Amino acid sequence: MKTYVVGNWKLNFNIGEASIYLHKIQKKLPNYRDVEVVVAPPLIALQPLSLQIDRHKMKLSAQNAFYCDYGAYTGETSFNQLRGLVDYVLIGHSERRYIFGEDEKMIGKKVEAAVRNKITPILCIGETESERTFGETRDKLRDQIMSGLRNIAIEDADKVILAYEPVWAISSVKGAKLAAPDDVADAVKIIRETLGELYDKKVAEAVPVLFGGSVNPSNAGAYLTVPGINGVLMGGSSLILSEFIDIIEIAKRVRS
Ligand code: PGA
Repeated sequence: MKTYVVGNWKLNFNIGEASIYLHKIQKKLPNYRDVEVVVAPPLIALQPLSLQIDRHKMKLSAQNAFYCDYGAYTGETSFNQLRGLVDYVLIGHSERRYIFGEDEKMIGKKVEAAVRNKITPILCIGETESERTFGETRDKLRDQIMSGLRNIAIEDADKVILAYEPVWAISSVKGAKLAAPDDVADAVKIIRETLGELYDKKVAEAVPVLFGGSVNPSNAGAYLTVPGINGVLMGGSSLILSEFIDIIEIAKRVRS
């Protein structure tokens, strides 16, 4: 399985800035066959960047999309419209869940629509600080996986990526803390057990599971060596060229 390094640019960079930043990344980026480098720029930059990107080196992801392919949905963009522009899409990021009120039902429909349109969904899951304090992490992760994947048949289950992002560890959250690698290991066990129950053992092992939450060059190595973790998803560090490249190199070293 490949190791994934995914950068979520969130609401940063206009089209010109995004293009310059992509150019700088591509100039520095070696072609590592077993590391899948993915960036998720703002929607408005996806079309121009899709013409600029060297797909041998890296891939594009959308940060969000809507589950209907067309219709009266003012302001939305469909997976159908993103076909050909992106290979991946983030779904259920905690900012979508908690700032924009996306519920499990909507997230499940989005995962289904992504798979239907041949775009790989990166389904983000993770407990909040208070859920963690009350010992609800296991139930929360199980619920999010069960409902996020409820429309995905076993034949399609290996077309999905999961990203464990404990909300309390995301750098933009006030008072964010770092997750300990042991916390991540416990969560991955729960995630793979749940996949095994929902599908089977083969799927439980085949689905890539990423970790996200204040990943930076000094902790990426520790997270990438947690058993069962297949990559990292970053916000802040993906916006700093040297940090992003360092993490890609760490991913390459950890693999070999
Ligand atoms: P962070 O963001 O790396 O800045 O914590 C991660 C994310 O929100 O995906």
